[in-house]
Amino acid sequence: MDRFIIDGGRRLKGAIKVSGSKNAALPILIATLLTDETCVVENVPSTLRDLRTTFRLLESLGKRVVVKGSTVRVLSTGSLKTQAPYEIVKQMRASVLAAGPLLARFGLVRVPIPGGCAIGLRPIDIHLKGFEIMGARRIADQGDIILSAPRLRPAAIALRFPSVGATQNLMMAAAATPGRTTIGNAAREPEMGDLGKFLEQLGAKVHGAGTAKVTIEGKAKLGGARHKVIPDRIEAGTFLLACAATRGRVKLVGAEAAHLGAVLSALKKAGAKIRSGKGWIELAMERRPKAVSIVTKPYPGFPTDLQAPWMALMTTCTGFAKVVETVFENRFLHAAELGRMGAQIAVSGRAAVVAGQERLSGAPIMASDIRAGAALLVAGLAAKGRTTIARVYHIDRGYEEIERKLSRAGARLARQK
Ligand code: UD1
Repeated sequence: MDRFIIDGGRRLKGAIKVSGSKNAALPILIATLLTDETCVVENVPSTLRDLRTTFRLLESLGKRVVVKGSTVRVLSTGSLKTQAPYEIVKQMRASVLAAGPLLARFGLVRVPIPGGCAIGLRPIDIHLKGFEIMGARRIADQGDIILSAPRLRPAAIALRFPSVGATQNLMMAAAATPGRTTIGNAAREPEMGDLGKFLEQLGAKVHGAGTAKVTIEGKAKLGGARHKVIPDRIEAGTFLLACAATRGRVKLVGAEAAHLGAVLSALKKAGAKIRSGKGWIELAMERRPKAVSIVTKPYPGFPTDLQAPWMALMTTCTGFAKVVETVFENRFLHAAELGRMGAQIAVSGRAAVVAGQERLSGAPIMASDIRAGAALLVAGLAAKGRTTIARVYHIDRGYEEIERKLSRAGARLARQK
């Protein structure tokens, strides 16, 4: 299993190119199940493990996927299957997003219930409730859920929590259901807006994607599309935090500042100098960060996916920073690993208090999920001495060519096979 070896303590400097958004690309590619026409999706971080899993999912359901660099063509090969294989769903929970398009088109879908994961239980009750409101019946069988409805009907759905996945699943189901469906208390992440644009390209009418109320006028038959995925705000945010932690200066190319409001404002409070323009963000950090407390919230709040890297940055702040996680129930696994590097973090339930140190020192540590892995990278780059990160496959799920991108910006980071 691969490991990263980092010689820390070097300032990041120069330019880093941001990839297309993983979390926008996944639902958009799955939305190609809504049509038999060819779809071309550009700016896809196609080398990521989660994307490879998505290609396999689409192929197992009967699509043909042709990948050329970051451009992905999804073609029809005849009829689609309506059963998602467990072997794929257990590797990537986002596979449950296939349920919406398949149920709406074929009136029947069988998906394995995804298990929990390191950061929490992650149920799918909000997705299922939405399908029920649209007229689906469900039965559980052998660890799978079977959803059926001769025809879904348009409906007014109010989510009990603005779940990202449930909003996407229901948007896709609504796009292939003739009539007007509204989703209230919808997730507002920029990835919703991107999916909305794609669904419009396919021929649905979409209003308010990326706001708390989405309205979709679906059609029984949807066409093909060509679409360019938005930049990855979480990858961009991770680079900004890594740069701040190493007290460096970098320019992110291909990044969208408007998608990172809460993070940029916290970074400014911590003492970073930030400038941005169309398609770029520049950050310079000259001294130890000031303590800035954060609470994770659904967008436009501080993203849970940057909570762990934020904590890594705060390990060297002046003072005490409180980090509260409200989105997932068990997302502090990185705290103990950071402790091995000398960080002082007290965790109690969903809150952690970080007492800033002058510097962390390198240590052998282990990633437990994608973003915990990103936090360890941030810490390792900033720490004095050598850090070895095990279970790098978690990081590979979400960060494309990360060692190449960071090395170009002056980091000493190597992959050991
Ligand atoms: C997506 C992102 C993930 C991010 C998360 C929150 C993708 C592929 N993944 O995950 O990176 O961390 O949004 O921004 O885009 N919940 C329920 N019932 C449900 C659905 C969700 O209780 O039916 C709970 C979850 O357990 C979790 C919270 O709601 O505690 C947020 O989940 P959700 O917004 O659905 O996140 P994902 O779509 O899984």
